Amino acid sequence: MRKELYLLHNGKPLKALIRPYAAADFQGLIDVQKACFPPPFPEELLWNEAQLSQHVARFPEGALCIEADGRIIGSMTGLIVDYSQYGGEHTWEAITDNGYIRNHEPGGDTLYVVDIGVIPAYRKSGAGKWLMLTMYETVVHLGLDRLLGGGRMPGYAAKSDQASPEQYVENVLSGEWNDPVITFLLRCGRMPLSVARNYLEDEDSKGNAVIMEWRNPFRHPRQEGLNSC
Ligand SMILES: CC(C)(COP(=O)(O)OP(=O)(O)OC[C@H]1O[C@@H](n2cnc3c(N)ncnc32)[C@H](O)[C@@H]1OP(=O)(O)O)[C@@H](O)C(=O)NCCC(=O)NCCS
Repeated sequence: MRKELYLLHNGKPLKALIRPYAAADFQGLIDVQKACFPPPFPEELLWNEAQLSQHVARFPEGALCIEADGRIIGSMTGLIVDYSQYGGEHTWEAITDNGYIRNHEPGGDTLYVVDIGVIPAYRKSGAGKWLMLTMYETVVHLGLDRLLGGGRMPGYAAKSDQASPEQYVENVLSGEWNDPVITFLLRCGRMPLSVARNYLEDEDSKGNAVIMEWRNPFRHPRQEGLNSC
């Protein structure tokens, strides 16, 4: 997989490349993580080389980075799971094997997102959406049922005295409030299914995440759904 495209950065086209990442990219990817997840996000949840080596070895199609201006500006990582083994209330730690993806199951039905991040200087240029769209293409290419992931809701802590996590999501869906991640995921065509409490040690989201899906439109839609928000 290798894809050239133009982002719209500060109002101007900027040539970029989406490709699988490899060992030579690890330091660049760790730098991207540091820029994307500043404190209070726990430092121990940022990528280390052992995790990145597992991504590349087990599921290279799910280990993507985007380059522009001669540097890595963002990345996205996934694994394949058999979703029936988990359920709507899963944690990030359980479903991603704490980011090591040793539970990657090539015969599973769901591409699960471990992480996506774009460094602040290149945000709102389309890089995150292009990474997501490329992962949708991977879902179709591999004949999987869907892409799924828990979206952080970093705007929640500031509103938690006014709303439960579920009410917060309703207000984001109605457009009353904006969330930097959930609103982005909606713009990428992801559909909210349920709120997972205690998903991730993430102060800004108060530990909550919205489990959000993108269904492979070329597969028959499943009849059974998860709890809707
Ligand atoms: C979430 C993130 C990856 C978005 O990346 P990005 O490259 O800035 O996103 P894009 O430029 O591709 O934006 C795609 C769409 O989402 C919208 N969007 C992006 N950030 C947004 C925000 N903070 N608030 C509202 N909408 C937003 C864009 O306006 C765009 O809408 P459009 O398709 O109608 O034009 C980036 O903000 C990030 O790295 N955040 C920190 C890491 C993180 O929390 N990752 C999520 C883990 S679950």
